[in-house]
Amino acid sequence: MAEKKDFLFDPARNPLYRDDYRPTEYKIPAVTLDIALDETETVVKSRIHVTRNPALPDTGGALVLDGEGLKLKSLKIIENGQTRDLDRSEFVVTDKNLILKNPPAKPFDLEIVTEINPTENTTLSGIYMAGDILCSQCEAQGFRRITYFLDRPDNLATYDVTLTGEQKKFPVLLSNGNGEPAKTVDNGDGTHSINWKDPWPKPSYLFAVVAGDMHVLEDTFTTMTGKKVDLRIYVQDGYEDKIKWAMESLKRSMKWDEDRYGREYDLDCFHIVAVDKFNAGAMENKGLNVFNVKYLVGSPEVSTDDELIDIEAVIGHEYFHNYSGDRVTVRDWFELTLKEGFTVLRDRQFTEDMHSKEIKRIDDAVGLRSAQFMEDAGPTSHPIRPDRVEEFDNIYTGTIYEKGSHVLGMLHTMMGETTWRAATDEYFSRFDGQAVTCDDFVDVMQEVSGIDLTQFRQWYNQSGTPEISYTGDYDAASKTYRLTLTQNTPPTADQSAKVALHMPIAVGLIGQSGKDVPLALSTDAAGEAAPTTRVLHLTEASLTFEFKNVDGPVVPSILRGFSAPVKVTTQPSDEELVFRMAHDTDGFNKYEATERLMVKTLHKLIKQAENDLPLTLEQGFIDAYGENVKNALAGDLAFNARTLGLPPYNIIIQDLKTLDPDAVSEAIDFMKTTLAKTYAEDFKNIYTATAAPAGEAYNVVPAQVGRRELHNTALGFIGKLETPDAALDAVAQYGHSKNMTEKLAALGVVTRMTDKDAMTVADKLLEDFYGRYKDNNNLVDKWLSLQAGRPADGALARVQELMKHEAYDATNPNKVYALIGGFTAGNPSAFHDKDGSGYKFLADTIIDLNDVNAKTATNLAKRFTQFKRYDSDRQALMISQMERIMAVPTLDIGIKEIIGKALDTVEKKPTNDNARKTAPARKQG
Ligand code: BES
Ligand code: ZN
Repeated sequence: MAEKKDFLFDPARNPLYRDDYRPTEYKIPAVTLDIALDETETVVKSRIHVTRNPALPDTGGALVLDGEGLKLKSLKIIENGQTRDLDRSEFVVTDKNLILKNPPAKPFDLEIVTEINPTENTTLSGIYMAGDILCSQCEAQGFRRITYFLDRPDNLATYDVTLTGEQKKFPVLLSNGNGEPAKTVDNGDGTHSINWKDPWPKPSYLFAVVAGDMHVLEDTFTTMTGKKVDLRIYVQDGYEDKIKWAMESLKRSMKWDEDRYGREYDLDCFHIVAVDKFNAGAMENKGLNVFNVKYLVGSPEVSTDDELIDIEAVIGHEYFHNYSGDRVTVRDWFELTLKEGFTVLRDRQFTEDMHSKEIKRIDDAVGLRSAQFMEDAGPTSHPIRPDRVEEFDNIYTGTIYEKGSHVLGMLHTMMGETTWRAATDEYFSRFDGQAVTCDDFVDVMQEVSGIDLTQFRQWYNQSGTPEISYTGDYDAASKTYRLTLTQNTPPTADQSAKVALHMPIAVGLIGQSGKDVPLALSTDAAGEAAPTTRVLHLTEASLTFEFKNVDGPVVPSILRGFSAPVKVTTQPSDEELVFRMAHDTDGFNKYEATERLMVKTLHKLIKQAENDLPLTLEQGFIDAYGENVKNALAGDLAFNARTLGLPPYNIIIQDLKTLDPDAVSEAIDFMKTTLAKTYAEDFKNIYTATAAPAGEAYNVVPAQVGRRELHNTALGFIGKLETPDAALDAVAQYGHSKNMTEKLAALGVVTRMTDKDAMTVADKLLEDFYGRYKDNNNLVDKWLSLQAGRPADGALARVQELMKHEAYDATNPNKVYALIGGFTAGNPSAFHDKDGSGYKFLADTIIDLNDVNAKTATNLAKRFTQFKRYDSDRQALMISQMERIMAVPTLDIGIKEIIGKALDTVEKKPTNDNARKTAPARKQG
């Protein structure tokens, strides 16, 4: 448990603790909302039914409702059938609450009328205008920006919602639950109304309202018990011909959740709406999912393969929340991984079943290791179930989502599919209609599986990335192989002491012939099956496993399928890696062997660059890579593309002690160029062989996706040489390709060229691209990103110029992430310019956004949290920018939390000038 009161030296920082959870004395089991929608004056009449919480002793305390930024118009109480205005002496309104001082003992109703201004709301939380569409976003604490309420997930209520709005402006009026969007009531005054009833009690964060002039695509789905569900997807003008993929994805999601989890949809209709301005990817509001247009609208002509697969995954994710989140919800926000970790696991399984299982596993593991491992190693490290939070918006992290999903993935591995299904069935039925905790979840897993999960639960408490090392010892005389696995979790910013965790480590042993050997443990009974991959339970700091009947020396393959979210620190020899590249039967480990060899080699190059030595690539590496090149057209092309391309930037830099971004760029550049030169002819052959056959119908199927990926990878290497021919290839591909996967890749290759002529070509293509697609927001975002990431001098000036372009809009998070994020993450050399201009620019942007959309600003602020990886000059520059941000008097508490945590890790020289500087180091829990 986090130590309390350790941050009080900064009174503006206001930590909340998980163990401070208390149930409320009052409950609101039913709500009736009457909303008169208007762009600038939306009036919300809320009638809430208030009862005592039967689970608590009756103390007659005050009723404290949450509310933020609300204009209270009137407040009435209804008791014993009598309605009356409350007297000013009976209640208190603060900037955070409405407090009823002496509520009646018997159940009563309150009628609260508030007014809000959706147009002025740039926070995109509560009710806001997304262009011409009025919409809402309530997770985590947005409902309090609509009306006064018990805005916490443990208050479950039924909602009866009546919407009224101008017929012209808002022809479509939507909310949660059952209703008939086509049947509105004409009020005769230019407005119309509709009623929505959601029979399922839900927390306020799942409430939603949408109103606007939208196109609809309709379909139906027949559930496993034969109920017909009306499906409707709503989008704005211009998107209506690009939502077929989304509808098909939705139907696949509904079917999959029935087949794999036995979950049947529970309302008469299911609606999805896409909006242009959205703080996240998408939101699972009951029966009315709201999506960032980026994750819903797509077609082969305007979307890449990855984007289409992502759209399907996000649709699946939000749909699956209908059970893992909506029907069974979270008790409080500290328990977020209960719904998000679980739903991410479910969407991963869905994608694995729809596409290539192996590729999804690899991509997912690479994603976790490149983003979440960094988070664990930095100042914002936290367990998947945090104990202490300052702003709940800040817990939507890679740790809670991705690591959380892998913790459940380990349970799945330990239990097997059949037991997993039985346990999740029990979880859904036992806690249906309740707000529960991660402990409740694990209790069911333990009960149904019979596995003792006492130690396993530590995954919920402990932050940090466990490190696994191994040693092997073969004894020819006894034909035994002893494998010793050791775990250690280094201290993190939030916790110094760590315990040993229970983790399933899947291993294989590869014999000298290149074949997996059957794995029989010395403790196995005679005749027991000996599979070639075995899951070993590592429960101690160190354990030795002895395998019998091993005929000769073996090469261990550890953590097959990425069976636990850990880092393997043992560094095998190059020979061993090359052997595993050739023979490992586990896709993830086979990929990982290549990745490891590349990273190891890059680190040598980076050292050379840092020391101003000439860069040289060892022949051994060139030859090993050559094997991958030679085999590139055989087997799974998507897999091969991954073994040819260089590892993601964050994987390359992960284990560097201090990072010189210029040396890293130089090393990456050198490796890519050398490989491109050495294998120029092969890449050309691969490129030609992977062109789409004439007349092929485009499909998102593994064979085609893999081929396009390899085609683009080959083009990347060809383009790296910057020969006139290479530019021609790319320009040709940009010109003739009918799908965005190839078009965009070609544009990317050209925009990364640094040769003067090539850059002129790139300018032309970018101009052409904008001309063609300026009406497609998502493609304009791509256009912004590509320019922000362009090498060569003047990158920052170009970005600043683009901020004035009509294509940019600081109130639209997608645009901010595309341009500013595209610069800070996609252009490391420019962002980390030694003159500090990149850091100052980021700080300026964060400060400007603080007043517009603090959530977006917070996400940008995370770029500073890795400051300790850089040299002391750059660290000092980043620290001074962070201090400048902290000095903003109106700084949002979410930004303050992130930057504050980063600054907390700065060694402070003891001074006596004020308490803030002499605060003790954080107590470790
Ligand atoms: N519940 C979240 C969305 C959310 C959370 C919106 C907090 C606003 C504030 C949703 O289920 C989610 O997790 N969405 C992800 C995409 C998903 C595929 C992981 C997102 O928005 O990034
Ligand atoms: Zn989610």
